[in-house]
Amino acid sequence: MARKSVQPQDGILVTRHLTKQYNGGVVLDNISLAIEEGKTTVIIGPSGCGKTVFMKHLIALERPTAGKVFFQGKRIDDLDEQRLAEIRTKYGFCFQMSALFDSLTVYENITFPARQHYRITDDKALDKMVKQKLALVGMDGFQNYYPASLSGGQKKRIALARAIALNPEIILYDEPTTGLDPITSDVINELVNKLKEEMNATSVVVTHDMKSAYKVGDRIIMLHNGRIIADGDADYIRNHPHDVVQQFIHGRVGEAELAALRLGGTRFETQFTPKDFR
Ligand SMILES: Nc1ncnc2c1ncn2[C@@H]1O[C@H](COP(=O)(O)OP(=O)(O)O)[C@@H](O)[C@H]1O
Ligand SMILES: [Mg+2]
Repeated sequence: MARKSVQPQDGILVTRHLTKQYNGGVVLDNISLAIEEGKTTVIIGPSGCGKTVFMKHLIALERPTAGKVFFQGKRIDDLDEQRLAEIRTKYGFCFQMSALFDSLTVYENITFPARQHYRITDDKALDKMVKQKLALVGMDGFQNYYPASLSGGQKKRIALARAIALNPEIILYDEPTTGLDPITSDVINELVNKLKEEMNATSVVVTHDMKSAYKVGDRIIMLHNGRIIADGDADYIRNHPHDVVQQFIHGRVGEAELAALRLGGTRFETQFTPKDFR
């Protein structure tokens, strides 16, 4: 089945023929994808398959080797840092590397982006904003705590509150449940859904946690060898016919990986191409 080519207006975030190489190694291979406004799109795939690299392109933290990225119909991958700083105020992001500042209180962490972008300088307005965002994540009252005195799950919730401080149109989550126990993970999943409802935000979630993917995803996309190999809702993914998808969602090691491990190799080639999935 021939796919219609993806146009910049087809979604709030669009990639067209997005390709990224590092030192000649292809990480993203010609990815065209339109992310729909108001929905939660989940990107799954094994560790190292390029999920984080893909997400960084959505906010132009990485620049493509080839191809283009559009936000609200306008190209962003070629903008200078000053223009990008403006655009990034419309994004909230909860990345693995964007931890809380340990030397700042919860209150200071959450007001950091607001102060940085000079959006809100009035103390009363800041107090109100912090209270409202903390209430959304169930943490009102923790304003004066330091991150060191919080649990892993509480820190994640504060990071979420900070991500939504400027009422973003897009929220990007990179592995929001990694490192959390199952119950705490589920609280984060509930929050991802709640923030989508209450903020009317579009969410993109990168994860290798299938429970989380099923719970939050309106649409789930699987990356493999730099390409999209599966794209559909939870039922579609659960029933996907291909071994590689089934092995991944059930956490099984594939024959190709096992063979490579037995040989002591570090690389393996897969036996199929993305066209098998069309
Ligand atoms: N700045 C970089 N320089 C070189 N290689 C990179 C860089 N960032 C990521 N990579 C490589 O790109 C691949 C995909 O990484 P990543 O997107 O972080 O995977 P994951 O799916 O686990 O998030 C990995 O092989 C990683 O080593
Ligand atoms: Mg990653």
